[in-house]
Amino acid sequence: MKALSGKQVARRYTLYAVFLFGVQGIVALLGATSLVIPDLPSPVSGEYGRAVHLALATFWPVIGMLGMVYYFTAEQLKTDIHSPKLARWQFAILLVTSLGLLGSLALGIGNGREYLDGLPIFYAGISLGILIGAYNLVRTLWENRQRLTPATGIMTVGVVLLCVLLIPNILHYSNPVADEAVKFWVVHLWEEMAFELTTSGFIASFFVSTGIADKKDIEKWLYLEATLSVTGGLFGTGHHYFWIGFPSIWLFLGSFFSVIQAIPVLLLAYMIYKGFKNHKVLSLKEKLAMWLILSSIFHHLTGATLLGLLMTIPWVNLYTHGTYITSGHAHLALFGTIGFLILAGAYTILSDRDNPTPKTYRYGVMGIILLNFGLIGMSSCLLIAGFLQTYLWRVLGLDFMAVSSILSPYLILRALSGSLFTLGAMILCTIIIRTWWKTRPVRRKTAN
Ligand code: HEM
Ligand code: HEM
Repeated sequence: MKALSGKQVARRYTLYAVFLFGVQGIVALLGATSLVIPDLPSPVSGEYGRAVHLALATFWPVIGMLGMVYYFTAEQLKTDIHSPKLARWQFAILLVTSLGLLGSLALGIGNGREYLDGLPIFYAGISLGILIGAYNLVRTLWENRQRLTPATGIMTVGVVLLCVLLIPNILHYSNPVADEAVKFWVVHLWEEMAFELTTSGFIASFFVSTGIADKKDIEKWLYLEATLSVTGGLFGTGHHYFWIGFPSIWLFLGSFFSVIQAIPVLLLAYMIYKGFKNHKVLSLKEKLAMWLILSSIFHHLTGATLLGLLMTIPWVNLYTHGTYITSGHAHLALFGTIGFLILAGAYTILSDRDNPTPKTYRYGVMGIILLNFGLIGMSSCLLIAGFLQTYLWRVLGLDFMAVSSILSPYLILRALSGSLFTLGAMILCTIIIRTWWKTRPVRRKTAN
């Protein structure tokens, strides 16, 4: 039997990520429903249900992203990665540890750490998995140093950062300030620094290969994007340090560098606008991926950056911190920006050279529209609920429980919008899984 290539192993990562995303849509909808109908029988307690949801939100994007980085690195360098075999072992480690983490959380085994709940052994396993990926990518770049491209370099730096930022989270710190700060290296720095680098590398590879943007333009943007993401992301994390015991200088640093984070997003939107003026004809497959990328850019500009900036103003954050407004932003930013991009990459990789029929394409667009409407619906309800929560609870000082009962209509509407989201997720997951099935190597009897 022919050994698998790096690109084929990348298909496993993205397929698993799409599967976890589908599971998350269903689990989250059940969770949102049980918030409004608390007596619903459930095998998992509310608190551990939330922990499972957050673990999924943190880890399916990273698993999909690792596959994308392998695939587009091989594509850009026009060669295989250093060791596809190591990538397969890495996948096995990530599969076992992520399933172990999710399963143990569902059984109520954890330590109550928000976002990174669960036994340290699983975090050690996931860190090891990412470390192996970082090593494999660095070796690949070293062996092909004459042919390096900015996109491959930036994606690899992103993966190295994912690893460096997760490792300190294997341990727990008795000092609560240190514990919170280290947690935000994942919650914030993964998203706004490491993922920014890997996703920009993917966008660059996609735009160059489809001819949407000029190679020189995209490379200039990539350098700027990388510099601003690292400086903006590193110090912009300050907006999470406002009230957890850090010196007050972070109120200024966090706000100032958060503004810096907005610049590359605006430049990216401008570049795409310029690219569309070229009227490049895209295949149906490229168009479907492009709808996903455009959805991501829309949410990056609005829910992540604009709303994020508004919430960062210290006088605003003092009141809105930890309310449903944060939850609205978290959904718009994490799924809206990163999730859509991972789905774009996963679809591109798993459809291989297969082009959808016009009917499948129409279903795909419908799935993306439902995901967008569901997401915007859910987040708008959360933002209204968050606004009321802030005003009634934090400004007027009403009782927390009295305020919670006023918010329930918005949470019911959130669950209803969530069902649109889940329907969209199911349609898209089905399309992606079907195209993977059609293009899997067993059927074609050749290495793809
Ligand atoms: C793709 C980019 C982004 C992602 C994935 C993301 C994700 C998140 C998540 C998951 C949270 C919730 C953390 C928690 O519950 O403690 C959060 C909070 C926050 N984000 Fe973002 N974010 C992004 C971009 C931004 C940007 C660009 C800004 C500002 C310019 C920003 C400002 C904030 C602030 C201030 C909070 C804390 C809210 C609070 O105090 O409760 N975010 N973000
Ligand atoms: C059907 C779709 C979804 C529903 C109904 C849903 C529902 C929920 C619920 C009930 C919570 C607990 C806090 C709250 O009440 O807001 C929550 C939190 C969260 N969800 Fe979702 N979710 C969905 C999809 C997603 C997706 C796809 C992601 C990211 C990939 C995500 C990321 C998060 C994050 C980061 C938080 C924590 C927010 C915070 O810090 O307050 N969710 N979600």
